[in-house]
Amino acid sequence: VKAELKIIRTIPELQRVLNDKRSNHKTIGFVPTMGFLHQGHLALVAKAKEQNDIVVMSIFVNSAQFGPGEDYEAYPRDEDGDTEKATQAGVDILFLPEQGEMYPQDGGIRILPGSQATELCGASRPGHFDGVLKVVLKLFNIVKPDHSYFGMKDAQQLAIIETFVRDFNVNTEIVRVQTVREEDGLAKSSRNVNLSENERIEAPIIREALKKGERLFHEGITTTIIEQQVAEHITANCSGTIDYVSLLSYPALTPYEGGTGEAILACAVLFQKTRLIDNIIMSTGR
Ligand code: PAF
Repeated sequence: VKAELKIIRTIPELQRVLNDKRSNHKTIGFVPTMGFLHQGHLALVAKAKEQNDIVVMSIFVNSAQFGPGEDYEAYPRDEDGDTEKATQAGVDILFLPEQGEMYPQDGGIRILPGSQATELCGASRPGHFDGVLKVVLKLFNIVKPDHSYFGMKDAQQLAIIETFVRDFNVNTEIVRVQTVREEDGLAKSSRNVNLSENERIEAPIIREALKKGERLFHEGITTTIIEQQVAEHITANCSGTIDYVSLLSYPALTPYEGGTGEAILACAVLFQKTRLIDNIIMSTGR
């Protein structure tokens, strides 16, 4: 029998319920999302359930992380479907704040991420990660989670949040969760619904190209050639246009210069109505 899902829309009510859980020594796992849930989100919930007594999920399409002309309005929303999926996945508390609940006023203070935020998506989405850190810090302060769960598909977001939490002693442990994929390799994303039929057929090329890049990486091919080959593989096989293909160290997101540690091969591809991202994290102990 599934425990009942509690829907909460206000910050004071959420804090009251969670204070009560904490005073009963319950640990809290937190899954922040922008909704339109798919199996990627549900994998975050599954991990959170394994490691905590209570799982809180938030759904809030965060206006602060969308730039002018981006898809804030077109971002898919489905509160009823999401509530059903969250219930099935065993979420205990679903936090669904309105815009005015999260951003009732603006005192003008900004959180500015460092050079990690100017690479990859940061180059074409100035201010995006400021907006992500703003909402994530607010949510962490409201929920006070023991553990917080983020997917590897948004590897740059994860790297920036890990750095923020480490450098500012934010009191939650960040847990990385692997990207969940469709059978043909396309990374699950709420934005996939905005692909046309033909684009959806082409989209797995992104993963295929990254896998090719990974093979070249392990053969010792140079960064520039790998980036070129991956970009060519995508443009030759799909109608989308490349925003970037980049090989960097991970999680620092500085130029990759060999040696040990992790590297990321990441790309973003623009389709008619949406922009898809994907990446592969590679171990560099070669
Ligand atoms: O990854 C997302 O869905 C969002 O960027 C997040 C972390 C929920 C912040 O709005």
